[in-house]
Amino acid sequence: MSDQIVALTQLVHARAGSAPIELGLILGSGLGHLADAVEGVAIPYADLPGFPHVGVSGHNPNLVIGTLEGRRVAVFGAREHYYENGNAAAMRLPLGLLKALGASQLIATNAAGSLCPDMRPGDLMLLSDHINFSGLNPLIGEKTDARFVPMTTAHDADLRAALRASAAAVGVALPEGVYAWYSGPSFETPAEIRAIKILGGDAVGMSTVPEVILARFLGLRVAAISTITNMAAGMSDEQISHEHTKAMAPIGAAKLEQVLRHFLRQAI
Ligand code: HPA
Repeated sequence: MSDQIVALTQLVHARAGSAPIELGLILGSGLGHLADAVEGVAIPYADLPGFPHVGVSGHNPNLVIGTLEGRRVAVFGAREHYYENGNAAAMRLPLGLLKALGASQLIATNAAGSLCPDMRPGDLMLLSDHINFSGLNPLIGEKTDARFVPMTTAHDADLRAALRASAAAVGVALPEGVYAWYSGPSFETPAEIRAIKILGGDAVGMSTVPEVILARFLGLRVAAISTITNMAAGMSDEQISHEHTKAMAPIGAAKLEQVLRHFLRQAI
């Protein structure tokens, strides 16, 4: 464990207690209010040396350590995206800390555009797999053989089954689909969306894939859920914008919260 992670672990233990964390949760655009539901301590990223300085509106840069539905969790209220500073590995330190705090699981969430006519704004999608359409990788520069991370079963089958069961139990539709990572920050062109569709993508977004790769590198089991905020470029007359993403995300967020709360109560 690096000295930086040891120091961060001590800092978190001093502020929020040293009981081990079970699970980490990364909140996507417009989903930040879930962090308020946690009974615990919010530590601003600015107090955590090496944590990203997240500048994207709609994100809440606190690490919240505490209890949600009886489980000890660490909630990342914001992520650094590749498009902010050109750093695909920006979440490596936060996820390394999560692992050091004892977590074995990570649930990532994001806002995404849909490529499927029957998956509409306000719907959720569970990632069955992903396509790294950006070609970037957070492990470039890693010197050990651990960099050769198998990705065949990256999106954990047991976590996904539990999330699907929770969604069914609370009456929320949770179709599975393939998420394509586009670097951003510009949105895709209609031709790019058609290309992603041909390649097998069902939703598109600007995050999550680096974190899934990092989670597997660190030995964390991982699953991810998209909240669909818009139809992807060229699929509707709607104007695609970040404002629209932020406005639409809370619709899916309410469903996401129901699913996640039920999932946490099952303690798999
Ligand atoms: N494309 C990329 N990222 C997104 C989108 C989109 O259409 N919607 C929300 N995040």
